[in-house]
Order: sequence, then C-alpha cells, then structure tokens
Amino acid sequence: MRLKLGQTEDMPQGSTALVVEGRTYLVTREGDLFYVLDGVCTHRGGDLSRGRIEGGTVRCPRHGAVFDLRNGELKGQVRIPLIGKASALRSYPSWEEDGWLFIEV
Ligand code: FES
Repeated sequence: MRLKLGQTEDMPQGSTALVVEGRTYLVTREGDLFYVLDGVCTHRGGDLSRGRIEGGTVRCPRHGAVFDLRNGELKGQVRIPLIGKASALRSYPSWEEDGWLFIEV
C-alpha cells in the first residue's frame, strides 16, 4: 500500500520528522533523493524525531542507539548493555510523483 507523506517542496534538505496517520517517519533529503525510515526506535520505542542528527546518523534520545539515516542500519548499539539491544530501523521504498513524496508501507 502506498502512503502519501507530503509535498516535496515543503521538505528541507537534511532530515526532518513527519507524522502521517499517527505514525512518525524520518525523512532525509539529499538534493532530489529521499530516504524514509520509521521514526520509532527498535529498542524501546524512543522518539527519534527528538534524536540528535549528526554525520548522516540519528542517535536515540533514550539510550543512545545510532542509526544510519539512509538505510536504517544500526551504527551504534544501546549504551547500557544490560537493557537489551536495538536492531535496524525499517526503511521504506520512496518515490516522488507530481511533487508529492510517497512510500510503500
Ligand atoms: S529506546 Fe532507543 S536506544 Fe533505547
């Protein structure tokens, strides 16, 4: 199923969070390329829209897991080993159509 995230002209370069139909997505724009990830941490549900963006990654504000903004790959594990582990974020196929950004969910 495809989901319309918003108009691309409203999406700035870099990373931003969007809430669509009650779900948070992280959208990273590099020129005309878009990368879309789940905005909820795979560890314990940290809100990644509040995470620190740095060097092409986002750091979870709760326990510090780090994810690649292009593909959701786990780049740094939870800082406190005894409370479990994070895994990669879901990455969504995306495309632009008539000025709108869509993802496949
Ligand atoms: S909830 Fe994100 S690292 Fe724990």
